[in-house]
Amino acid sequence: MKEPAIETIEFKSFEQLRDTCLKCSGCGLRAGAKQVVFGKGNPCADIMFVGEAPGKQEDEQGEPFVGAAGNLLDKIFAAAGINRDDVFITNVAKCRPPGNRFPRPDEVETCRWYLNAQIKFIDPLIIVCLGALATKTLINPQARITRIRGQWFEKNGIKILPTYHPAALLRDPGKKRPVWEDFQELMRVYKEMITRQMTIDW
Ligand code: URA
Repeated sequence: MKEPAIETIEFKSFEQLRDTCLKCSGCGLRAGAKQVVFGKGNPCADIMFVGEAPGKQEDEQGEPFVGAAGNLLDKIFAAAGINRDDVFITNVAKCRPPGNRFPRPDEVETCRWYLNAQIKFIDPLIIVCLGALATKTLINPQARITRIRGQWFEKNGIKILPTYHPAALLRDPGKKRPVWEDFQELMRVYKEMITRQMTIDW
């Protein structure tokens, strides 16, 4: 029997979403990848980070951001006071593109259902777009990361902050300063939101 299209599936739980995603062969990327990299972290996270696509290390280990860009992301997290286990980290494309090429629009379109469903389940306060692909996918296809990084956007009640991809910082260390400013802004707004929530709660 033919499998139902992903967009017609009503995911009942985060686990069902993960299992469906891990079995996906909805686009050509799966054939060249070792495994699907669903994402990792707290399914109830306040902050979600969305990158581009798994690289070689991520494809081998089945986890996002565990290679060179991930090591740098870990350093930024440590400096900003972010614990990996508290947030949720994923990518726009869940399978490694051959030779780490940029995911194609049809591949992004196919995978988008999973990202949308992840966002729906996690329901974060804030999404941080790491790089151009996440920024174009979640904010606006015409968006230019160089122009809009560090600015806040809002969609469906979720605040979205675009910043440079950690791999871009490895190529151009001059981008470290703006990214650090973006993370400081992220934490400033996050702490403000949490404080407001706590005040309302009691
Ligand atoms: N680059 C990404 O965009 N995502 C990863 O998981 C690793 C590197």
